[in-house]
Amino acid sequence: MGKENLLHLLEAEAGEYVSGEEISRKLNVSRTAVWKQVRKLEAEGYHIEAVPRLGYRLQGKPSRLSVHELLPKLNTKRFGRQLHLLDVVPSTQDEMRRLAEQGAPEGTLVIAEQQTNGRGRMGRSWVSPAGKGIWMSLLLRPPVPLPLTPQLTLLAAVALSRAIIREVPVTIGIKWPNDLLVNGKKISGILLESAAEDERLRYVVVGMGISVNLDAEDYPEDLLTKAVSLKMASGNALNRSDLIASILEEFERLYELYLEQGFAPIRSLWEAHSVTLNKETTLHTPQGPILGVPRGLDDMGGLKVELADGSSRTIYSAEVGDRVVGS
Ligand code: BTN
Repeated sequence: MGKENLLHLLEAEAGEYVSGEEISRKLNVSRTAVWKQVRKLEAEGYHIEAVPRLGYRLQGKPSRLSVHELLPKLNTKRFGRQLHLLDVVPSTQDEMRRLAEQGAPEGTLVIAEQQTNGRGRMGRSWVSPAGKGIWMSLLLRPPVPLPLTPQLTLLAAVALSRAIIREVPVTIGIKWPNDLLVNGKKISGILLESAAEDERLRYVVVGMGISVNLDAEDYPEDLLTKAVSLKMASGNALNRSDLIASILEEFERLYELYLEQGFAPIRSLWEAHSVTLNKETTLHTPQGPILGVPRGLDDMGGLKVELADGSSRTIYSAEVGDRVVGS
């Protein structure tokens, strides 16, 4: 028996109980086999109530994103208008790179319900279970010099923070460069991957992972002290399309502002949302740890750090504070 047969049977009863005996008779399998398939469906996000003597009842299905639900909510000119909604992929970053190489326009968006090989910064993996988060990649073709791409990382962090605050009553802090934290725990990460040719920036793929409706059991245990979902933080499950629409709107608006006015307004917004500034911390750079007090951003998007001897140093790549084991 496949779990699909069981699902059809439960769906046909439209929320009424079906006894284990009836299921095993109709599907010609043992009661234990029925129970095993129920467990499998639950792992996929179906909510099946089991009551002794009454049987099983389908109470909820995993929420799925749909183009029909999302498109009418979009308040953007270009961002998300070319939309690829996929089920399971290794990583939306790779899907987007493929589309970019085929000439996809700026603003193209790839969203997946699940990633089997989601990746984070510094070569780490990114937990991306089915139907519970927002795992998406946005394509930008910015007319800016290659060394300025870190500015887009910071822009993305501001856009996500603003969108989340609009949708959920939580306080977001940005940890340099682009981790979004709620009460010190990470709820979202951003991964920028760019393609260049002869020092010219061809395109940027902005990967965004937002832990929306994950439950504690969706995380590996060692991550629970460092990561949290919006549902766990706010106590309520969220409609993912509303949040996606807000992210795209904030992102497009800030991106236009950036193209018109440069980095200065983004820099101020980032600094206002930051939880990294003016606190002594260790910065784990590729060249080794540095102890200092981050004071602000420089024109390129680097972090200006004041060292113990009063001198100042700008850092372009580092992890701030405690090292995270995985994402
Ligand atoms: C981080 O380490 O904080 C960045 C995490 C980025 C995860 C997102 S999920 C969508 C996109 N696809 C990936 O494989 N990674 C990014």
